[in-house]
Amino acid sequence: VVPILIDCDTGIDDALALLYAAAHGADLRACTVTHGNVPVPAGARNTLTVLDVAGLDTVPVHTGATRPLAQPLDVAHHVHGEDGLGDAGVTWSPRSPAGDLAPAEIVRLARAHPGELTLVAIGPLTNLGIALLLEPRLPELVDRVVVMGGAVGVPGNVTEYGEANVWHDPEAAQLVVDAAWDVVFVGLETTMPHPMSPDVLRRIEAGTDPRARFAWAILQCYLDFYEERLGVRSCVPHDALAVAVALDPELATYRTVPAFVETGRGPTRGTLVADLRPGSADAGADATAAGIIRIVETFDIDTFHERLLKS
Ligand code: BDR
Ligand code: CA
Repeated sequence: VVPILIDCDTGIDDALALLYAAAHGADLRACTVTHGNVPVPAGARNTLTVLDVAGLDTVPVHTGATRPLAQPLDVAHHVHGEDGLGDAGVTWSPRSPAGDLAPAEIVRLARAHPGELTLVAIGPLTNLGIALLLEPRLPELVDRVVVMGGAVGVPGNVTEYGEANVWHDPEAAQLVVDAAWDVVFVGLETTMPHPMSPDVLRRIEAGTDPRARFAWAILQCYLDFYEERLGVRSCVPHDALAVAVALDPELATYRTVPAFVETGRGPTRGTLVADLRPGSADAGADATAAGIIRIVETFDIDTFHERLLKS
């Protein structure tokens, strides 16, 4: 079991991702909180609350960047509810954050476990970007990075091309793409084809333990949002797919591609652009090179659903 740190903007699908991590034996050393779905104080409260429900009430939570590097804060209450957990009336954790310097905590944990840490980012990439600026050796210090972000070759979910986590802080996302580390972007091209099936939803609804009751309660708001878009009562648990890939890389197959983030001020700002031409990254290309990322080619959705239901 490898040490893991999850940077999140909790959020309904972030909550499912944390429940998944807890149920599947993740050695979760800390959660760091970024702006994104909700402002950081709400994200921290939500993260602490979900960790408590998941039985991870000793995992420390550190708050971090309260806004993107080069654009104003923008949140997604229309997706995740006013409180970020679907306005389901959950009981908040009595805990408080352990610290307020998330990027420094990312660096500290990476230094404490050189070559071992898996970094998972399921919110905008501001904390990771700042951590890279604080410690230029961060790419050598962490083992690998898994990001939920991007929309390669498919429509965005904030703009025509932009996926939320990349769009919310393009400059930080570019720092993450440019770092010389093994980074997998699990994007909308991987998550959107896999809305939760009626059977999976029924089984969560039928669950009797507190985690299932919690998940079903917060999901209602998310289901409302997606029902309008998908035309059926379902939803896409984006962040849980990224955590699943982080815990078990074998759930997916990958393609190594050159990429960059559009940081211009035009309509394509916040797009993750990947070069998909055959041979764009030579066979065996070094996935850890700067400007080279991995994207997901195939994802084992059946195994994922089985495991999600055991969360
Ligand atoms: C991502 O954006 C957020 O709304 C979700 O929590 C997920 O991390 C999907 O684009
Ligand atoms: Ca998220």
